[in-house]
Amino acid sequence: MINISEIERFVIHLHEKYRSNHDGKVATYIPELGKANPDHFGISVVTVDGQECSVGDTQIEFTIQSICKPVAFLMALGRHGRQKTLSHVGVEPSGDPFNSVALSPRNNLPYNAMVNAGAIAVASLIKGESPAAGDAEFLRLLSLAAARSLRIDQSVFASESATGNRNRAIAYLLRNFDVIDDAVDHTLHQYFSECSVLLNARDLAMVGATMANLGENPETHEEVFDPDSVRDALSTMFTCGMYDYAGEWAFRAGMPAKSGVSGGILAVVNRQIGIAVYSPRLDDRGNSVRGIQVCADLSEEFGLHCFNFSNFGSNLLRMM
Ligand code: DON
Repeated sequence: MINISEIERFVIHLHEKYRSNHDGKVATYIPELGKANPDHFGISVVTVDGQECSVGDTQIEFTIQSICKPVAFLMALGRHGRQKTLSHVGVEPSGDPFNSVALSPRNNLPYNAMVNAGAIAVASLIKGESPAAGDAEFLRLLSLAAARSLRIDQSVFASESATGNRNRAIAYLLRNFDVIDDAVDHTLHQYFSECSVLLNARDLAMVGATMANLGENPETHEEVFDPDSVRDALSTMFTCGMYDYAGEWAFRAGMPAKSGVSGGILAVVNRQIGIAVYSPRLDDRGNSVRGIQVCADLSEEFGLHCFNFSNFGSNLLRMM
């Protein structure tokens, strides 16, 4: 068993170490996001054997934002299979910011499912019969992964939708190249809804632990995602999850991760733990400042980098 009290001691230390760091800015390009308390700071870890620790503001709800992207990708892979899904979205890092309007010049597909263009293509694949049905199905899957019933923040949804013209431009570009079908508004509804799901850091760590546990929720033992899709999603998170910081992130932290503009970061240590940090102040690439520091320190302390020296890559396993 992983020794959760060792992890908890270190997480308490990290919370203390970084709570006085006020670098970065809360996102305001979606007006509702600007209402977040910039000082909130929560860290949760859930292990694949169902142990957990939570320190700080881990009960505060925030909208998942771009961290919905790997979950939506998992849903598309599970529903349509790899071949069909990858005929709508690539798996190459773009090196561009999350909201880049560019498609790959090779095939006119979005570079990957972690940037907006790819997530909108994926939203089209999973949007369901109606906007309400698409919302319900996404909420159902994410709630199973979090082991708690989740809901959409309608004010953030409305704010996203009112200010989402760049995403509309991306969607019409995708329509132009036949990547998505004619139901452009329905697809955008699906994408904005996915981004507007409320959860807390503990929920997010549970989602991460479900991914780390090959798709089986460690608390409920429900099979939420199939293992092949989890492998595909984690690979894409590893290379593309942190946008134009993805290379440095892989170098420093060495674990698949996904950030969102509300200040969440989800990181996954395969077969071991899910990590979630919530802290709304972002750096200039849209990643949580404290979130990056916490994950990098955890990786260093417990040898979580996937290319760590020991065979199984982790001091966590040595603690077993
Ligand atoms: O597309 C958008 O603008 C947002 N709803 C999601 C963006 C996001 O979280 C990007 N991540 N860092």
